[in-house]
Amino acid sequence: MDMDGSVEQPKESPQDRLAVALAEDMAAVNGLIRARMSSEHAPRIPEVTAHLIEAGGKRLRPMLTLAAARICGYRGSDHQKLAATVEFIHTATLLHDDVVDESHRRRGRPTANLLWDNKSSVLVGDYLFARAFQLMVEPGNLRVLDILANASAVIAEGEVLQLTAAQDLATTEDIYLKVIRGKTAALFSAATESGAVIAGAPEAQVRALYTYGDALGIAFQVADDLLDYGGSSTTIGKNTGDDFRERKLTLPVIKAVAQADAEERAFWVRVIEKGQQAEGDLEQARTIMARHGAMEAARASALGWARTAEAALAALPDDPLREVLADLAQYVVARIA
Ligand code: IPE
Ligand code: IPE
Ligand code: MG
Ligand code: MG
Repeated sequence: MDMDGSVEQPKESPQDRLAVALAEDMAAVNGLIRARMSSEHAPRIPEVTAHLIEAGGKRLRPMLTLAAARICGYRGSDHQKLAATVEFIHTATLLHDDVVDESHRRRGRPTANLLWDNKSSVLVGDYLFARAFQLMVEPGNLRVLDILANASAVIAEGEVLQLTAAQDLATTEDIYLKVIRGKTAALFSAATESGAVIAGAPEAQVRALYTYGDALGIAFQVADDLLDYGGSSTTIGKNTGDDFRERKLTLPVIKAVAQADAEERAFWVRVIEKGQQAEGDLEQARTIMARHGAMEAARASALGWARTAEAALAALPDDPLREVLADLAQYVVARIA
């Protein structure tokens, strides 16, 4: 309640505003997703894809493609196919990622690897990747194909780089940035850049939307990594502590390791390098990170990337959707503010 007794209206999030502004396009995208995720020949495919896709997900990346195209003045419908492509790539990587991370919760539900098995997740993920490639060819635009095919390779590279950097206390912030730029930001930037390209936008606008997607994706992943230590499983729809258990060197850990005294270093060596984790270690990790302001520093980094994203929008035409994208950059880091 406000001072005058009126009930404060919850403000619509930028994500919801995007969904409202792009409702017609998104209905078409969701129709495409439903139509293309099925398979006449292997019933396991619609079982698994329906489980994941019907659970929702924010549909952030396809909305970015649609918004980018619209801001650049696009009036056709090929951007819907690109948006569906982007969501398929995203869903395929989530299926694979939950196998690799041995995760048990996604989008507020048990993961496919838990409900079915790793084999189903890997193979259905491959199927969705292949479906994504079929879709991205359809607009017949080679440059868009180049962007999306490239992103698919870079995402996989990011995941593999992360795999080899895990458990390695020598991982630097530069390596971390390379990992998240690959595994997460590459799809955000491909989503926005391909929207601009399909619209035939001038190069300066294509570049601006690339930069926006790249910086937004980095801010988003840094925030996600912070939430793995500080968030609540209910709000994020995934279990917290997964990164610690998987011994990943995410930004707050890297910052804490860099400042560790001998005793703290021994702790990190035991839990991250040797993987000898016991009850209470996650809590202890949080305490050590707090002691060095590591969460605060990582938060500041996310806020900086959000500002970079917002600044890139200056090169775009004035449009109500541009304002929503600006607010979205603040919003993805607001969950850790
Ligand atoms: C999850 O992305 C994967 C990360 C890059 C952290 P989202 O949080 O956008 O996933 P959904 O689609 O909304 O479930
Ligand atoms: C997200 O990575 C998956 C990809 C970007 C491929 P993470 O493993 O960090 O994210 P969550 O926590 O499982 O969503
Ligand atoms: Mg994961
Ligand atoms: Mg992962």
